[in-house]
Order: sequence, then structure tokens, then C-alpha cells
Amino acid sequence: MFVRPVVNPEHTFMVPNDPLTQIRIASPFDEAAASHLLGLVFPDDPHPYAQNIRESNCLNAVATNNEGRLIGFATLLIDPTTQHGTQEWRKYSLYIGAIATEPIHRRKGVGTDLMEFLAQEARKSAPHYQLMHLHVTQDSPSIHFHENCGFVKISTYKNSWLMRRPV
Ligand SMILES: CC(C)(COP(=O)(O)OP(=O)(O)OC[C@H]1O[C@@H](n2cnc3c(N)ncnc32)[C@H](O)[C@@H]1OP(=O)(O)O)[C@@H](O)C(=O)NCCC(=O)NCCS
Repeated sequence: MFVRPVVNPEHTFMVPNDPLTQIRIASPFDEAAASHLLGLVFPDDPHPYAQNIRESNCLNAVATNNEGRLIGFATLLIDPTTQHGTQEWRKYSLYIGAIATEPIHRRKGVGTDLMEFLAQEARKSAPHYQLMHLHVTQDSPSIHFHENCGFVKISTYKNSWLMRRPV
């Protein structure tokens, strides 16, 4: 049975280029759909990013279509911690663990709006941090997406770029 998540209007906005899409903070009801999307987009990545929805140290955002179905997900680690992901991940505050949109909904601004929504929420809940971080593999087409979102390459780690931007 589908249980529609409770939506807090203060934590919701409509996507300007796509008024049928809504971005909001993830609720526990979104975990299965987020996990399904991430499994499709990152079939080889074993990290269960959707479980971050249960973590108090993470901000998680979902994009939904006009039927309330999840079409995008992004997760942001707030404080550096030993409890999530790799050794490298835990060094950085405001760290984008994963961002993904459904293939048929790409290039409509949904990914950018997920990123800006998380940045906006981070400015409110963690105003002491000035920079957001992420790693992206050096051959990933999403580097252009991240650059478009204002991230710049800082250094390399294994086969990835560390990128960052002001919050
Ligand atoms: C990366 C991703 C989240 C982008 O989502 P999206 O909803 O398509 O993003 P947007 O529509 O907001 O893209 C904004 C801009 O970023 C750039 N961009 C986005 N995807 C791109 C791609 N595949 N190649 C080149 N540029 C890209 C473009 O400049 C785009 O603007 P334009 O469409 O007007 O040219 C999505 O492609 C995805 O889920 N990819 C697979 C997962 C992934 O690689 N995640 C990132 C690593 S964690």
C-alpha cells in the first residue's frame, strides 16, 4: 500500500522549469523508492545511501512528479563523521554522498534544484559551514553538471575529483 508522505509546506518548492515536479525533504516513506532509483543509477555502488534518510546527520531531498512518485534523490552529510561511507567521505562537512535523477526526467533542471534545495537547507541548519563538497569519478559526464552547479575541482583522490563550492 502506498502511504503518501506528510509534506511540510515550509520544506517544499515547485521546480520553476517544471511545475509538476516538487522538491522536498525526504521522509522515511521515501526510503524504498530512493533505494530503487539509486540501485538503477549506481548498480555497482554497494553503499546504501537511501538509509541516510534515517540519519540525523544527513539532509536528504527528493523530487517527485505530479503523481507523487519519486524521480530524484540527493543526500548531504552535514558534519564529518566516522559513521558513514568511506574514510575519505568522513573528512568533509556538507558532503554530497549521492545525487541522482531518473533518466527520463534529466536535463530539465531537477538535479540543479535538488542541489540548490540542499544548499538552502544547509545554510539554515548548519550556518557555520561555508563549503559543500563531493567526489566524482574523473570520467563521469556529471562533472559538467557539478560545474554548472558552481563546484570546482580541488584535488584528486584515487580516480575521482574532490570538488567544492560555497554553500
Ligand atoms: C547528474 C544528474 C543528477 C543531473 O541531473 P539533471 O536533472 O539532468 O540535472 P539538470 O537538468 O539540473 O542539469 C543542469 C545542467 O548540468 C549539465 N549537465 C547535466 N547532465 C549532464 C550530462 N550528462 N552531460 C553534460 N552536462 C550535463 C548541463 O549543463 C545541464 O544544463 P542543460 O541541460 O541546460 O545543458 C543526473 O544526470 C544523474 O542522475 N546522473 C547519474 C548519477 C550521477 O552521475 N550522479 C552524480 C555523481 S554522485
